[in-house]
Amino acid sequence: MEYIVEIQDLSKDYETGFWKKKNVRALDGLSLSVEPGQIFGFLGGNGAGKTTTIKILMGLLFPTSGTARILGRDIADVSMHREIGYCPENPYFYDYLTASELMNYFGEIFGLDSRRRKERSAELLTKVGLAEKDWNKQLRKYSKGMLQRVGLAQSLINDPKIVFLDEPMSGLDPMGRREIRELIAELRSSGTTVFMSTHILSDVEALCERVAILRRGKLAATGRLEDLLASSEQQAFEISVSGISAVALSSFAASSGAELSEKPTGISLQVDSESEIDAALKAVRASGGKLLSVQPIRQSLEELFVEKTGTA
Ligand SMILES: Nc1ncnc2c1ncn2[C@@H]1O[C@H](COP(=O)(O)OP(=O)(O)O)[C@@H](O)[C@H]1O
Ligand SMILES: [Mg+2]
Repeated sequence: MEYIVEIQDLSKDYETGFWKKKNVRALDGLSLSVEPGQIFGFLGGNGAGKTTTIKILMGLLFPTSGTARILGRDIADVSMHREIGYCPENPYFYDYLTASELMNYFGEIFGLDSRRRKERSAELLTKVGLAEKDWNKQLRKYSKGMLQRVGLAQSLINDPKIVFLDEPMSGLDPMGRREIRELIAELRSSGTTVFMSTHILSDVEALCERVAILRRGKLAATGRLEDLLASSEQQAFEISVSGISAVALSSFAASSGAELSEKPTGISLQVDSESEIDAALKAVRASGGKLLSVQPIRQSLEELFVEKTGTA
């Protein structure tokens, strides 16, 4: 199997309006593939179509057109569901069940025997950081962050080959996010592929090797995060210099438009393109400064995101 998820030309129209039926195109010809063994980040602003895509993949919504395969099998093939996990956005469960009961319920769905259900439930609730004293509390008494954790635990009960997480960090405080981040990284190390939607860019940078960026239902970019960040249209460079004061380069900066700033280690000169490096180095030498480094400035994920989605 080359790809663990393959999405081909997927479109989805929602019918809205009561008097006048109107279609809203939520997904528009989306094609995408995910290789096994990685954490794939599915990015996009609010309303970009992330949840719609995941729900179609999970068989909870029907596409208007297009096809998708998971583990090499068509999404209509329900047998594939035994091997995948899913944590919905804002997981909402039966309020009056406890976390243990919920885990038991999902364990039954996957055909685990009662001993295995108990073991697996304790193992997973511990893993997602839920204190044992809370396992037998009803879920209506849970905070949003705690529900998010139960949702994650539930999605792993069948030891899935791939798990689909829709905004897994939402509702978590910074400590909680860090813990869940570590858990997701651990999943990958143990061979589980993770497909996660998110708009929290720091989590993407920490976790995802590959990403897809969705914009109004269309694919705006996909690839290795490194490659996407390196391929920005204009590559700027930072030239670091020591041994002189900023004044020594101020006339060069003024005439060339290079950005001059003072750093703890010396002076930094930022030029907008490779072709401007030579002139800058000449000015540095003429001023008697010592060259420390010339480094390409990587576009930040935030800049890439804004460029691709047109949103901040
Ligand atoms: N049940 C629905 N009925 C009508 N429109 C919907 C429905 N669900 C989502 N949409 C619309 O589809 C688009 C994509 O939504 P969604 O998939 O939830 O985006 P995301 O998860 O990226 O925020 C949005 O414009 C949203 O308003
Ligand atoms: Mg969503």
